[in-house]
Amino acid sequence: METWDAITSRRNVRQYEGRPLQETDLERILEAGWRAPSSRNWQPWDFIVVTERAELIELSKVWRGGAHVAESSATVAIVVQQSDDQHARETARFDVGQASMQMMIAAADLGIASGHSAVGDQELARQILGFPEDRYVVIMIDFGYPADRPLSPIRHPNRRPLDEVVHRGRW
Ligand SMILES: Cc1cc2nc3c(=O)[nH]c(=O)nc-3n(C[C@H](O)[C@H](O)[C@H](O)COP(=O)(O)O)c2cc1C
Repeated sequence: METWDAITSRRNVRQYEGRPLQETDLERILEAGWRAPSSRNWQPWDFIVVTERAELIELSKVWRGGAHVAESSATVAIVVQQSDDQHARETARFDVGQASMQMMIAAADLGIASGHSAVGDQELARQILGFPEDRYVVIMIDFGYPADRPLSPIRHPNRRPLDEVVHRGRW
């Protein structure tokens, strides 16, 4: 797929076929996140990738809207260090956003759909995933083949009008 097609085809998918991803595809998605830019290249993240169905089902319980995690073929939990420093917290979340998006676009390029899932119960996530006490999951990104239809460019995305969002020169 062309980069532009991957960008315009990506959409949040909440129902997956469930068939496994090829290991090389999963590695490429993870490498895309690993390559993401971050503030001063501090790479505040660790990625925990889950592919076992039983573990995915458990993981789907950390958020009431997380049913798509249970059905996914792989879910990546992006984990960062807790911090009392607001700047560090905000920077980490910005950087995690970049890593997330890079993984999602790399996935779309392979025809693999993705979705975000928040984490409501960090303690349950910790029990399942085993990350240290001083870390937490910012977001989980689930991956898989869409159950409804293959990814293809979306002509009219559900967005605020472009000319309302874009200000040229000044507000
Ligand atoms: C930070 C963030 C958190 C999100 N959390 C969830 C979530 O917990 N559950 C969910 O179904 N979708 C979640 N979404 C997906 C958004 O609802 C979705 O991206 C938005 O509606 C635009 O649709 P699209 O991704 O299909 O273009 C999240 C998106 C972002 C960026």
